[in-house]
Amino acid sequence: MRTVTVGLLGCGTVGQNILHLLERRKAIFDNLGVQIEVTGVLVRDASKPRDVPPGTPLTRDPTFLQESSVVIEVLGGIEQPLALLLPYLRSGRPVITANKALLAECWDELREHALAGRLYYEASVMAGTPVIGPMSTVLRASTFTRLQAVLNGTCNYILTQMEGGKTYAQALAEAQALGYAEDPPTLDVGGFDTAHKLAVLARFCADGDFPYSAVEVQGIEDVTLEDVAAARAAGDRIKLVAELCCAGEGWRATVSPQRLPATHPLCNEGASRNALLYEGEECGSLIFAGGGAGGMVTASAMVGDLLDWLIGFPGHVPLH
Ligand code: NAP
Ligand code: HSE
Repeated sequence: MRTVTVGLLGCGTVGQNILHLLERRKAIFDNLGVQIEVTGVLVRDASKPRDVPPGTPLTRDPTFLQESSVVIEVLGGIEQPLALLLPYLRSGRPVITANKALLAECWDELREHALAGRLYYEASVMAGTPVIGPMSTVLRASTFTRLQAVLNGTCNYILTQMEGGKTYAQALAEAQALGYAEDPPTLDVGGFDTAHKLAVLARFCADGDFPYSAVEVQGIEDVTLEDVAAARAAGDRIKLVAELCCAGEGWRATVSPQRLPATHPLCNEGASRNALLYEGEECGSLIFAGGGAGGMVTASAMVGDLLDWLIGFPGHVPLH
């Protein structure tokens, strides 16, 4: 048995579930001859009650990073994770993150580490539904033409609840209580979280340096109960849709609320689910759908990334 030291940054909705999943899947680590040792778990308030395994080393002091051979980041935000992760990545060690805001907005700083295979980020888009893995591997054989997707669980939850007559404010409060929403939730409802995810995806299929600033963004704040009811009456549903397609010599990336027929593949059931329609010349149309937000679905993709690293797979390398 070899001991692998893991540092965890953040212990909220996702972080707590990662700790439980590491325990629940102990047999799979045993089979790899690995014993996981959590060196530290960074939080703002170490005295706050949490659902964590006994003995979890909660701390406000990130010095445990020095003795961690891999780091899992679920802090959220941009400045704090960037300040902690950059020196760590520069030391040549791997990082697993679910932080699409960081990936989208700090690509200049992170690109070289992603190209070196040190960054693992399956959970950053569609949480527990694997899409970055296929896009960074097998789908490269096919010529990408277009994608269309529902990438934000909070917005999907809100719009679905509004179809049942709940107000926007009620539905948003519920999505926050369920642990789906970002802090602040403007990132979700303003379309920015979807735009972050679309920029991350575009780097695998369109342009390895696709800039976040190129995404045209409109959120769902102006969608009313009347809009939702009118769509339903006509057999349609309103979804916050991300699209990436050819535009002349380049690519056009947009995020906007759209009316889609209820039978459209992006209108899958399940309030917090995500769906993605991927089109390539040779592979044809593919549909990915599944859990797009929530603690355990996200943890499942992150522990999957940890397993990939342990067995020697590189991180997610964009087009280059
Ligand atoms: P969360 O519940 O708000 O948890 C954040 C954790 O980070 C908390 O434990 C918090 O400490 C800690 N933290 C934040 N800022 C800190 C700082 N400056 N110093 C020390 N600790 C700090 O967030 P989450 O929902 O788990 O999401 C975490 C990340 O995963 C985000 O990047 C999010 O976009 C991404 N993500 C979330 C989901 C989801 O469904 N929730 C899905 C996919 C990706 P305290 O607990 O002490 O406040
Ligand atoms: N706030 C995000 C969402 C979490 O609602 O989709 C998953 O990335």
